[in-house]
Amino acid sequence: MAARAVVVVAAGSGTRLGLGTAKAFVPVAGERMLVRALRTVLSLAEPTLVVVVAPADRMDEGRTLVAEVAGAASEYITVVPGGADRHASVQAGLAVLPDSVATVLVHDAARCLTPASQFERVFAAVGSGDSVGVVPALPVTDTVKRVAGDVVVETVDRSALVGVQTPQGFPLAALRRAYAVAERAATDDAGVFQAAGGVVRTVPGDADAFKVTTRWDLGRAEAVVAERAGVRSVDPRVDVRVGLGVDVHAFDPDVPCRVGMLDFPGEPGLSGHSDGDAVAHAVCDALLSAGGLGDIGGRFGTSDPRFAGASGDVFVRGAVELLRDAGLEPVRVTVQVIGNRPRIGARRDEMQDALAAAVGAPVAVSGTTTDGLGFTGRGEGLTAIATALVRSR
Ligand code: CTP
Ligand code: MG
Repeated sequence: MAARAVVVVAAGSGTRLGLGTAKAFVPVAGERMLVRALRTVLSLAEPTLVVVVAPADRMDEGRTLVAEVAGAASEYITVVPGGADRHASVQAGLAVLPDSVATVLVHDAARCLTPASQFERVFAAVGSGDSVGVVPALPVTDTVKRVAGDVVVETVDRSALVGVQTPQGFPLAALRRAYAVAERAATDDAGVFQAAGGVVRTVPGDADAFKVTTRWDLGRAEAVVAERAGVRSVDPRVDVRVGLGVDVHAFDPDVPCRVGMLDFPGEPGLSGHSDGDAVAHAVCDALLSAGGLGDIGGRFGTSDPRFAGASGDVFVRGAVELLRDAGLEPVRVTVQVIGNRPRIGARRDEMQDALAAAVGAPVAVSGTTTDGLGFTGRGEGLTAIATALVRSR
């Protein structure tokens, strides 16, 4: 039996959100707030009993949702109907916990993006043994003023103020006693606990633990989820450019085969002034084109004896250097090899690594044939097409 528990209060009506439906059932980026909050609670390392306080008129929905999220862990979760206000809902949640629970955290489902680390921080602080309540808190950043109507009375010293979040943690027995004697004035559990004589300490909160109260908060929550998923919109302050490079070389059975900076012993090589590595040359051209820096022929001219027989590496590194001089750096490169041979499938990772080492950014390699059509289909030569993304440094 778990010695710790979390009560998730989710019975509010969401009046300020104004969607005409219980807030905890409102989706954030496609997933209901209660589901998001529960997933985090279920991810905690230690066994933790969970009580979900659901709207009294949506109990079936609440139970179904809990079963969907929790699966086999459902046995640790009890769903109970909430009350007319948050206070009553918390009491309903506390009432069903077994006495064996030493520490309980009370959490707003509406703070659905609260990280698991915040739960652990609060659990750890309550468990320190001196029977205190614990609230996650953040400094107040706005200047705060006391007012009478619309008249400012004074500026309040904000260095002595914090904003508090949930989960708030307490020894279960002490919190129950506090709720039993509470007048319904406190707006959070720590207030109830303190009114009954308890000591409450703070631990650092987290900006992501904000409460979804208004439509604006909902938009903010959606943005946080998108950011966590890595769906970043391109920062308009960063200069991002795209480049394209194509190269073709004919096969020459008398020279060694070097493609994508790898040697392919026994395969026919590619003719050219340099090593004929069409893949490296296409990458080089894509990088140059992204920077608006011209092309490989213009930059590393075929008449220049320095580049006779040069390996593809020289051209790619040269292009990266020119980009750097222009205040740019590669972000990503993709290159497709078009031809019958050499087969690159088995050496794709190796080729990607070799190219990435020269580019200084990830390179994705793919290969295709042309169904017997054209010069590549007839096995006369090899084509490579590359794209490059570069950004300002
Ligand atoms: N809550 C609850 N039971 C209530 C009222 C609130 O369980 N009778 C819960 C809410 O579901 C929410 C948390 O307490 O997770 C914080 O409350 P709040 O943000 O005020 O939510 P609502 O009361 O739903 O919103 P509003 O005040 O805008 O109606
Ligand atoms: Mg409310």
